[in-house]
Amino acid sequence: MGWSPTSWRSKPIEQVPVYPDLDALAQVETQLGKFPPLVFAGEARKLTRALGDVANRKAFLLQGGDCAEAFEEHAADNIRDFFRVFLQMAVVMTFAAASPVVKVGRIAGQFAKPRSTPNEIIDGVELPSYRGDIVNGISFDEASRIPDPQRQLDAYRQSAATLNLLRAFATGGYANLENAHRWMLGFVKDSPQASRYEELAGRITETLGFMKAIGLEAERHPELRQTDFYTSHEALLLGYEQALTRIDSTSGDYYATSGHMIWIGDRTRQLGNAHVEYCRGVKNPIGLKCGPSLQPDDLLRLIDVLNPSDEAGRLTLICRFGADKVGDHLPKLVRAVEAAGRTVVWSCDPMHGNTIKTASGYKTRPFERVMQEIKHFFDVHQAEGSYAGGVHLEMTGKNVTECTGGARAISEAELHDRYHTYCDPRLNADQSIEVAFKVADLLKAERGNAQDTSRADAAE
Ligand code: PEP
Ligand code: CO
Repeated sequence: MGWSPTSWRSKPIEQVPVYPDLDALAQVETQLGKFPPLVFAGEARKLTRALGDVANRKAFLLQGGDCAEAFEEHAADNIRDFFRVFLQMAVVMTFAAASPVVKVGRIAGQFAKPRSTPNEIIDGVELPSYRGDIVNGISFDEASRIPDPQRQLDAYRQSAATLNLLRAFATGGYANLENAHRWMLGFVKDSPQASRYEELAGRITETLGFMKAIGLEAERHPELRQTDFYTSHEALLLGYEQALTRIDSTSGDYYATSGHMIWIGDRTRQLGNAHVEYCRGVKNPIGLKCGPSLQPDDLLRLIDVLNPSDEAGRLTLICRFGADKVGDHLPKLVRAVEAAGRTVVWSCDPMHGNTIKTASGYKTRPFERVMQEIKHFFDVHQAEGSYAGGVHLEMTGKNVTECTGGARAISEAELHDRYHTYCDPRLNADQSIEVAFKVADLLKAERGNAQDTSRADAAE
């Protein structure tokens, strides 16, 4: 098929950092090429199968994490707090959907950022835009902003250390169901909207009590004390991705070993360009961001290129239109994909189409808009007979103040209290769990509809 790990280099490319020293860049890439892979091909295949279950309406995808990971924020408690919140969300959603939740973090590799302009001007001074810690530094001074290839080595090491702790959490007992449930009860007790969540939380408590009573103990059942947790990031910095592309010895296929799942951003999804070229040749599950400018015909061509054999779980369409646009744009895409008989996972990113700037200059996202987009996303799939398969969130385990609203009603004036993001505003811990409870309601309704349909089918 004329693909190789380097074939992207001869294609047009967007969003490339300007490295002043290309020899130094090449040296780093050579070095990275010798480093151990961060993930193993068998794990990526397992994730493809899990996402295949999502495509076939048997599971739901929860994907989330920082907009941009940062070197300064690399600390055990940040990873732990994120993981705890993520697991609580997954428990709530698993119970409501009565089906598995596939857990994929935007973590352990989510460093490179696309920007709307290559340069930034502040008070008449023009410097390269910040492109994520893997490329340059966020401080607005020349030394920080010049792309430095050494940062790729730091990003690799941070990813390795993060993944190591996540694996330990996921399999070492910390992720047991009782813990996740206990943390979730703590959230419910402290929430100003506790009464809204108590019913679902109470039913989970009863179910766990019942399981215990009949002898289902975590010591004897690994599924009660372990979980599968996967990593993902935008495959933006292709030199880095290429260096970590390896042939899997069992299948002979190429895999990106920088993370389990990689995705193509909304700014770099041009057919025939470098990012699509790179992603088409690796066997990992791939995400494709779908924004308002994506036309149905182009989407079908992209699907042909990225998933020619129509493998379930290979391709996740991550839709990010904005609460007021999803109703106009999504149905056209869904109809085109359905008419072409293609198998995809439909996931909703309710963050990137709902960013606004406050009068005081903060980028924020109103919680109500985030929920509105998710709600409309479910409505569209209900109307089209397709399956709302997942959500993709920018979130953190800390109680930052970056998105307005939620049960604690963060106001625009409060944003400056704990506004810590390196890029886009994230849902904080409480807002994230709230989203999970609200998605749980939608999942329950979706499940009810599916049961009604299958009953009707059976009666025919
Ligand atoms: C992101 O996910 O952080 C991002 C930049 O998204 P998009 O490509 O959809 O704009
Ligand atoms: Co973002």
